[in-house]
Amino acid sequence: MDFLELAKKRYSCKRYQPDKGVEKEKLDKILAAGQAAPTAKNSQPQHIYVMQSEEALKIVDSLTPCRYGAPVVLAVTYDSNQEFVYPGEKYASGVEDASIVATHMMLMAAAEGVDSCWLNFFDPDKAAEAMKLPASEKVVLLMDLGYAAEGTRPTPTHEKTKLIEELVSYC
Ligand SMILES: Cc1cc2nc3c(=O)[nH]c(=O)nc-3n(C[C@H](O)[C@H](O)[C@H](O)COP(=O)(O)O)c2cc1C
Repeated sequence: MDFLELAKKRYSCKRYQPDKGVEKEKLDKILAAGQAAPTAKNSQPQHIYVMQSEEALKIVDSLTPCRYGAPVVLAVTYDSNQEFVYPGEKYASGVEDASIVATHMMLMAAAEGVDSCWLNFFDPDKAAEAMKLPASEKVVLLMDLGYAAEGTRPTPTHEKTKLIEELVSYC
């Protein structure tokens, strides 16, 4: 499968087989793909928490209704003391870095046949508190990982993209 096919095949999975975990070998590849992601000035401010113990998944469930039975949830954070600050000092790149890392992992998961869903439906401050993170560490997203429950299909909007002409301008 070429990359475009893979990118189109990936979808946000909203129902998982709760008892089918993600194999360690696949999880390691997913995490390695995140490690290979670029970050601003190679600052690598990100950290990935693999939440898979009963206790950790209970924390996830207290933060969001969107685990959908996934046996593994990645919490992607960055340290605001380590992120690149743009000239002008008004903006910084931690959220972008964490998002690129997460995108690498999401697509690696798809390449390995592992289903996923990116989650922003949670309060990042409550997540940091529940995870006992230091004040400088910000939670950007949670990512469900697992295998789709039987009969699960992409949502009808999965293939509903804007036209390329609306999304792209040649200048
Ligand atoms: C930044 C971001 C945040 C998202 N947050 C959630 C979420 O909290 N809960 C959820 O069920 N889906 C979430 N999604 C999944 C989107 O709803 C989904 O990607 C979008 O509808 C397109 O569907 P597709 O991924 O199947 O193509 C999120 C996706 C992105 C990129």
